[in-house]
Amino acid sequence: MTTTNAFLDVRSVAKAFGGNRVLEDVNVRIAPGEIVGLLGPNGSGKSTLLNVITGFTSADSGTVHCEGQRIDCLPAHRIVQTGMARTFQLPSMPTKMSVMEVAMAAATAHHGVWGTLLGTTGARATEKAARDKAEHLLKELLLTPVRDLPASAISGGQKKLLGIVCALMAEPRMLLLDEPTAGVHPNLRRDIVAALQRLNAQGMTLVIVEHDMHFIRDLCTRCVVLDRGQIVASCRPDELASNERVLQAYLGTAGAKPLEATTS
Ligand SMILES: Nc1ncnc2c1ncn2[C@@H]1O[C@H](COP(=O)(O)OP(=O)(O)OP(=O)(O)O)[C@@H](O)[C@H]1O
Ligand SMILES: [Mg+2]
Repeated sequence: MTTTNAFLDVRSVAKAFGGNRVLEDVNVRIAPGEIVGLLGPNGSGKSTLLNVITGFTSADSGTVHCEGQRIDCLPAHRIVQTGMARTFQLPSMPTKMSVMEVAMAAATAHHGVWGTLLGTTGARATEKAARDKAEHLLKELLLTPVRDLPASAISGGQKKLLGIVCALMAEPRMLLLDEPTAGVHPNLRRDIVAALQRLNAQGMTLVIVEHDMHFIRDLCTRCVVLDRGQIVASCRPDELASNERVLQAYLGTAGAKPLEATTS
């Protein structure tokens, strides 16, 4: 796969916090329409890689391209406008806004300033469309009963779901999810899998950081495994258990060698 036909192309990315080298020469290419699981032990650099891709952390070196456009030089809000949205591992919500207001604020943040245009017919139509979309997504992720509660007062699992709603309000073509099912009831997990499969069938590319192997097996077409900041495997979910480098990463045996993660 070349840079031009990759949806996302991460090249030679490195990041250190002080003397802690968290990402080292990370290369990941993701094709349009893939569902990729980003795996690895705690502290292996998964969230940091998501932060670098989405502009929340700057890399020390390397590049990130989205559909051929270099994005590692852009601020996070501009990266969203390229079609990439994300959720956070530990979402924090504002205390003075309701669940519905947070979803609506996400639409405003992603799509610009219909708020400043209020009073015009077009802006009202845009706001109505955003409200309808928020209502639909809240219903799909079972948040309608808490839509008027302060967003900070809902449960940890519900905050995860609200994070997904906010990301989807951007109508992204790529969604990066950081542990979307942590703290979420297993029944709802199945609903999330189904919802993500529907989005993928409509063309959305997905990157999912997740420790739940059932979730990964049900959803992902490919897994990329990080170990101590290096990509050590890129394989199908059913190949993980027999992949020596993956076992070394999780069991802590020395000697895992880095491998460039590609789809071809
Ligand atoms: N802002 C930061 N400042 C200093 N160190 C950081 C920062 N962010 C991450 N790190 C360090 O980078 C390393 C990787 O962290 P990261 O959160 O990317 O891991 P992870 O793979 O997402 O782990 P987990 O599965 O536990 O979420 C850790 O050692 C962490 O302490
Ligand atoms: Mg993490």
